[in-house]
Amino acid sequence: MVADRRSRLRSATEDAHRKLDLVVNDAGYFRDRSSYAAYLHATLRARQPLELALDDCGAEKLFGLWPDRTIAAALCADIHDVTAASATNSKIVLGQAFSPAQAIGTLYVMEGSALGARHLAPRAHSLGMSPTFGARHFAQQTAMPKTWSAFLRVLEAVSFDAFQEAECVAAARAAFDRFERAYASEISGGLISR
Ligand code: HEM
Repeated sequence: MVADRRSRLRSATEDAHRKLDLVVNDAGYFRDRSSYAAYLHATLRARQPLELALDDCGAEKLFGLWPDRTIAAALCADIHDVTAASATNSKIVLGQAFSPAQAIGTLYVMEGSALGARHLAPRAHSLGMSPTFGARHFAQQTAMPKTWSAFLRVLEAVSFDAFQEAECVAAARAAFDRFERAYASEISGGLISR
């Protein structure tokens, strides 16, 4: 049942989400344009290999809207807007092929981040960003508000055994970890001043 799987995923990742939220807020990523540029770089670094791995494992077959949900190209364009430097959609590979259960767990995190984007987009807009300058990826993430309910239907429809359920949860936690490490490393690496 979806309520079970979604609740399981939510409770298995709520500590990770809380940590992520704290890291992003503590970093002051939305304080000024250079901090925001660091946020964009971290997001791209965390996300791009996950998007590629989802493409490679055929995530589209599980979740038909997936191809419209990849935002690495928009992030590169945002980085170019904000820094005038080119960011390459570098195609770094994760070194892991996702099973269907791992793909679903990862998609849960990717689609969930679009819910967070609704809260972050206004903060980017207050720095002068817009859907056509610097906040293209937020515009893309928030443009299709029904995507989340479509994804929850997929989450409901798939049938997993106990091993796959565990794989799904572990993949969601691994995806959160990836984002947390990326956001934290921009701070610890001194790329943004605190
Ligand atoms: C500081 C940044 C973030 C804020 C303020 C934030 C905020 C939120 C909020 C308010 C929700 C609930 C929205 C709703 O139910 O309508 C949510 C859900 C979610 N967010 Fe975030 N978010 C942030 C970053 C992220 C990131 C970067 C990810 C993933 C990489 C993420 C993953 C999720 C997931 C998976 C859910 C769904 C939880 C559920 O099952 O209800 N969030 N976020």
